[in-house]
Amino acid sequence: MGFFDGKTAIVTGAARGIGRTIAEELAREGADLAICDLDLNWLAETADSIRSIGRKAECIGVNVSDWPGVNEAVTTIVKSMGHVDILVNNAGITKDAFLARMTEENWDAVISVNLKGTFLFTKAVSKPMMKQKSGTIVNIASIIGLIGNAGQCNYAASKAGVIALTKSAAKELASRGIRVNAVAPGFIETKMTETLQEDVRDQMLAAIPMRRFGNPTDVANAVVFLASDAAAYMTGQVLTVSGGMVM
Ligand SMILES: NC(=O)c1ccc[n+]([C@@H]2O[C@H](COP(=O)([O-])OP(=O)(O)OC[C@H]3O[C@@H](n4cnc5c(N)ncnc54)[C@H](O)[C@@H]3O)[C@@H](O)[C@H]2O)c1
Repeated sequence: MGFFDGKTAIVTGAARGIGRTIAEELAREGADLAICDLDLNWLAETADSIRSIGRKAECIGVNVSDWPGVNEAVTTIVKSMGHVDILVNNAGITKDAFLARMTEENWDAVISVNLKGTFLFTKAVSKPMMKQKSGTIVNIASIIGLIGNAGQCNYAASKAGVIALTKSAAKELASRGIRVNAVAPGFIETKMTETLQEDVRDQMLAAIPMRRFGNPTDVANAVVFLASDAAAYMTGQVLTVSGGMVM
């Protein structure tokens, strides 16, 4: 018995990294998956992994910032899987630069994927979720959306926007039986953190009370909790997963 037996979940940006692990953990709890990404090759690897867990996986190539594509993707998913119970808005990018060097393109690209993409998928699933009078949405924000970061004005603004969107959608959809929450990860162990110079890595670790980077499973566990009935009375919340870096 898993939390999500008989449920269908959509995870965006599921081709790799945190999104892939979230999709796998939802599958381990019994969910069938519709996994969305730009990158269909890596998405196929995620699908293989989900099927090896024993759940269904439908791969959808879609740009989260393209409304016709997003709308069509959700329509296709509802048609083929019958219902959509969970949405995890995880797709995200960075285009870091200090303000003076940050181009309009850097700004637009990050806002378009991280913030507009989250809006578009939320809008698209809200229709079938309102019809079925149930659903749960988890948005992947970042601690940078809470505390800011030099060189990341675009990313910080996009993630602060995701938090505000989460709270507004939560207020709007609560009476329809739909919960909307966010997870704000801190530094999560990725290829990027692996290749950091030792002194930079040590500096970053010194700012984390638990003295370790997080891993994708740390984030996925918080997503599973918020998406599950264990969080039935929680909506509009931001759960920080940062080893105590942000309290
Ligand atoms: N890694 C960290 O330390 C960290 C910390 C806080 C928050 N986050 C957030 O977690 C999420 C996942 O990050 P990650 O580290 O796994 O990144 P990642 O780059 O490994 O994975 C992101 C995925 O999103 C997909 N994607 C990008 N643009 C897309 C688009 N327009 N349409 C569809 N898919 C698209 C990519 O192809 C990729 O598969 C992001 O929202 C990120 O901002 C990450």
